[in-house]
Amino acid sequence: MRTILLGPPGAGKGTQADRIVEKYDVPHISTGDIFRENIKNGTELGKKAQEYMNRGELVPDDLVVEIATDRLLKDDCREKGFLLDGFPRTVYQAEKLDEFLAAHGHRLDKVIDLEVGEAELMKRLTGRRVCKVCGASYHIVNIPPAKEGVCDKCGGELIQRADDNEETAKNRIDVYNRETAPLVDYYEKAGVLARIDGAAPLEETFGSITAALEE
Ligand code: AP5
Ligand code: MG
Repeated sequence: MRTILLGPPGAGKGTQADRIVEKYDVPHISTGDIFRENIKNGTELGKKAQEYMNRGELVPDDLVVEIATDRLLKDDCREKGFLLDGFPRTVYQAEKLDEFLAAHGHRLDKVIDLEVGEAELMKRLTGRRVCKVCGASYHIVNIPPAKEGVCDKCGGELIQRADDNEETAKNRIDVYNRETAPLVDYYEKAGVLARIDGAAPLEETFGSITAALEE
């Protein structure tokens, strides 16, 4: 499977990715997760990415393309394909991905576009909590943990992502509308786009995604 999860911040890309990985056993590649891991470990890459992420701006294209294509060259992606989450995010990145795939004799199977309105996105982003230890994601209203502030899976502390405050979340949505939304057209023209209602309940959205993937 060679698939992209497209959609604005808070659309449910990471949430649905967990389920897709469980069902189809495909490597999940989130450029946002790669950057956060690097920030946590204090790497040079993390230092470069952090200033952009904290403002809700995009990390520069060339840096992201290098990180993503390096990851796509690993054995697991050669064997099983990939589920990209949060990459590509600009037309330039999409063109570079196309070049990379063509050079390896591959093509995209499907691009899943999760559609959610802005008011709902803001509620999801500002209410999200993530586990400091294992990264599991919750929502204070929609998907609360059994015990407030504690991860169901590993008992770790639940925290708010640095870019999930109201001001930064709003900027991320604006940046999405400006820089990333044109990819919907890009992949529609390529004949691989599936528009999915991301505002429906979790399992319903997952059902629509699997139907599109198995079409
Ligand atoms: P990234 O980590 O990719 O963040 P994002 O795109 O802003 O998306 P999110 O992770 O915030 O949302 P999501 O769609 O995964 O939603 P989730 O499933 O968590 O990127 C972060 C930053 O890194 C960027 O701003 C940029 O700086 C940089 N970056 C990354 N990639 C880059 C690239 N390619 N180029 C340049 N820069 C890049 O769900 C959200 C909440 O909603 C959760 O609380 C969840 O529990 C809840 N929820 C989910 N689904 C439902 C549902 N159906 N019903 C009710 N609640 C739900
Ligand atoms: Mg995510």
